[in-house]
Amino acid sequence: MKWSTLLLNWYRREGRDLPWRKTRDPYRILVSEVMLQQTQVARVLDFYKNWLRLFPTFKTLANAKTSDVLHAWAGLGYNRRALALQNIAKQVMAQGLPKTRDEWLALKGIGPYTADAIASFSLHERRWPVDTNLRRVGGRLWLGIHYPDLKDDDRIRERALKELPTKSDTHEIPQAAFDLAVAVCTKTPSCGICPLKNVCASSKAFLNNEVATPKRMTKASNETIRAGKKVPHGIYRGRILALVRTQKSAKRSEVGKVIDPIFDSVKDQPWVDAMIDRLIKDGLVNEKRGRLVLPE
Ligand code: ADE
Repeated sequence: MKWSTLLLNWYRREGRDLPWRKTRDPYRILVSEVMLQQTQVARVLDFYKNWLRLFPTFKTLANAKTSDVLHAWAGLGYNRRALALQNIAKQVMAQGLPKTRDEWLALKGIGPYTADAIASFSLHERRWPVDTNLRRVGGRLWLGIHYPDLKDDDRIRERALKELPTKSDTHEIPQAAFDLAVAVCTKTPSCGICPLKNVCASSKAFLNNEVATPKRMTKASNETIRAGKKVPHGIYRGRILALVRTQKSAKRSEVGKVIDPIFDSVKDQPWVDAMIDRLIKDGLVNEKRGRLVLPE
């Protein structure tokens, strides 16, 4: 049997029932895919529901106050995604709804992954949205690359165009592949239970224990050493934003002791200031009359 049939049969039995799989609305698909970049499904579910209640359409999101958008995003992390999403909504309202993958790709804030996701799940085109999950599945299945990386993405996308069938359920195949990626085709894959083991270019090597697991597959995030431990900058950025959000405003000099129990007001203020400057540059925080506030 063809890989896609095997995968879909498995998906019908083992696949997850997720709300964004029941719609073709490009807005809903965009929201889910932006939330799902870097955040796990279980966490996204509640945020997705709440978001659609607050901002059900491109229009409501485009017209919303940025501070309300950041409040709704609070807890999901990587807050720049919220601003990018609102910016996309504004572009859609100004220019009209894109009708093709390439028109989506032309919007600021939409990359090949998101354009391919919308093309597949909303337009029902044959596309393989390459994120870490579909990179792993596609790279292993078709190319025999046990641990594919970014430089393999173009080849994976091209190969998918040859491999995806022209049937009406072609848009379900990438969804099935996301589930396979988290349940079976994981970093150390369970090829023994994989529906694709007989058609996969990598399964034999994995089953014969011929593959060494690389230590780190992705680039380390920016880190700081605090109290002898490595901590990603994103943690402190998130805490600064949470402070500004919950207190409505904050002074620079108050920030350090709130975000870090071992803050030293002499030594560490430049570190905190640099993170604040970066948040301002990213448009997540404004400074007004000496106080930090959320953008309007
Ligand atoms: N990760 C990224 N997109 C996803 C989707 N549509 N379903 C499940 N996991 C995903």
